[in-house]
Amino acid sequence: MTGVVVIGAQWGDEGKGRIIDWLSGQADLVVRYNGGHNAGHTLVVDGRIYKLALLPSGLVRGKPGVIGNGVVLDPFALFAEIERMRALGLDVGPHNLTIAETAALVLPIHRALDVEQEARRSPKLDTTLRGIGPAYEDKIGRRAIRVCDLADPTTLAAKLEALLAHHNLWLAAVGAPTFEFEPMLAQLMALAPTLLAHSGPAWQKLHTAQAQGQRILFEGAQAALLDVDWGTYPYVTSSNTVAAAAATGSGVGPNALQTVLGVCKAYTTRVGAGPLPTELDDATGTLLRERGNEYGTNTGRQRRCGWLDACLLRQSIAVSGITALALTKLDVLDSLSEIRICTGYILNGKHYDYMPAGLTEQAALQPQYEVLPGWLSPTAQARQWSDLPPAAQQYVARIEALTGVPVALLSCHPERDALICLRDPFAAAA
Ligand code: IMP
Repeated sequence: MTGVVVIGAQWGDEGKGRIIDWLSGQADLVVRYNGGHNAGHTLVVDGRIYKLALLPSGLVRGKPGVIGNGVVLDPFALFAEIERMRALGLDVGPHNLTIAETAALVLPIHRALDVEQEARRSPKLDTTLRGIGPAYEDKIGRRAIRVCDLADPTTLAAKLEALLAHHNLWLAAVGAPTFEFEPMLAQLMALAPTLLAHSGPAWQKLHTAQAQGQRILFEGAQAALLDVDWGTYPYVTSSNTVAAAAATGSGVGPNALQTVLGVCKAYTTRVGAGPLPTELDDATGTLLRERGNEYGTNTGRQRRCGWLDACLLRQSIAVSGITALALTKLDVLDSLSEIRICTGYILNGKHYDYMPAGLTEQAALQPQYEVLPGWLSPTAQARQWSDLPPAAQQYVARIEALTGVPVALLSCHPERDALICLRDPFAAAA
């Protein structure tokens, strides 16, 4: 069996969907293992745009998918997404989509809690308001309703009653609408047969796939710097997003993950609040946003933009065991006469080669830059390494030298087949 994990190496939106789409051509099975419908993966295939949030991206290429136990699943969002994909001609059903019976559900009350919590937060976390944080809280708090509970009406009713009682107390205290038991139970009972038709011991399916020597692609959501342990806490999501989560979130051992591909943009973006040491509040920042079309897939929010932070990238690589990078959107830098890369920080006169953990320290970091010449020519037509201008090659080589890992895939154009493959991730994993 060959396992390749694809994760974001920055703060998300690095173009993972496109890389996963390309790799899924070689995969036998594609697995989502963390996050929920806060994720947004856009795939452009034959001029059609597929905006996925929960479904494993391989379905677009006809590859079977698994939604693992590490995902928090909003069944209403899932069914709406399946309907949207069917309208685009995709075949999605129990024959090609398996959902872990132990995945925790995101319910309408979680969405309400997310909204009410965010409204009262200062400073705000800028969550996606999809209920993801409250659903993970319930999972860790051992209150969650899991997919398998839908098969057992007695357990479901008891768990739902306890869950609503727990949260209604707080909602009532802050003057927000509370949730009623009967309509929620009826809604869950109504969707149970469809969801249960997809559910089962997903870990066993993966175990069989491993035994058969299949190629498994683990599709990460969000990114390393949004990890609840390793990211810029508390400005993070509520799940583990580093590569190790592919094992715990799907039911394979760590030895099933041979290659970890970290997707990063040729610059940095972040949506929502939190530290971003290389942020550019100037014309260059605007240029990156406009040329890179840096607006959220799911929420339409404007992304903050800055120079590539090789110091933070090194950190993501270390904590995720990234073995190679997929560098995206190199063409966005085409018109810049000089390009900066952050190599470390200065704080109170001291040099840091990592991001310190404290919030006050993070806000005061002075990025240290290396300046490289731009290439001032279009790269969108480049299809192999030798097509790139020498200054662009130099930029990529410098990223490899600063981070200590090779660039395996490189993109200068959004079309799937425009990817430059320098090192095949599945071949490297075999
Ligand atoms: P939550 O995941 O909705 O709780 O949001 C927590 C933080 O993670 C916010 O700053 C979001 O903008 C960010 N976030 C969540 N999902 C994504 C994603 O797919 N891409 C980029 N940022 C994300």
